[in-house]
Amino acid sequence: MRVVVLASGTGSLFRALCRAQAQGAPFDIVALVADKPCGACEGAAEFGIPSQVVALPAQADAGDRGQWNRDLAAAVGGYSPDLVVSAGFMRIVGPEFLEHFGGRMLNTHPALLPAFPGAHAVADALAYGAKVTGCTVHLVDAGVDTGPIVAQEAVEIHRGDTVDTVHERIKVVERRLIVEVVSTIAQHGYISDGRKAYLLHE
Ligand code: GRF
Repeated sequence: MRVVVLASGTGSLFRALCRAQAQGAPFDIVALVADKPCGACEGAAEFGIPSQVVALPAQADAGDRGQWNRDLAAAVGGYSPDLVVSAGFMRIVGPEFLEHFGGRMLNTHPALLPAFPGAHAVADALAYGAKVTGCTVHLVDAGVDTGPIVAQEAVEIHRGDTVDTVHERIKVVERRLIVEVVSTIAQHGYISDGRKAYLLHE
């Protein structure tokens, strides 16, 4: 199974996938695509995986992102992936991207969806006073963190935690979960009716 990973940040999730592949996981990471030069790109170089940056032009922040989505789809499509994995990719993809990869794109989110969607999930859970948060791997649809849930795992929030301490605890779980989900999909696949999704185990 050919996998293209999208990332924007330090890339620890991407590196976890690369390490798993190096240790024999049943998938093939064929490229990293980022929206800016970032730690994940350095990780790609370390693992000998091609990487490409498709930067979002500043003016697109305010309005039409169609061209950026088309450019992103062309870059990703150039690697002919079976699965696209958004692993710390801090951009919402639009219809021009999803028309190509919708239904075969995963995202990993640092909260137990549908609680705390969006870019500040860890801070939001902490500020709310939640005692349990976690991470969610879901299929990407047109909404913000609304797609069918594939896997979730809980992580406790303790008194005295900060955004950084909670996020690091979540990311330990997130790195394992994304590797497990991508491995299971590579071996057995998944089904989704557009609202619910299930991994197909033996
Ligand atoms: C993860 O928690 C991901 O869910 C969130 O950003 C983090 C990415 O971490 N959107 P890294 O850059 O892979 O270390």
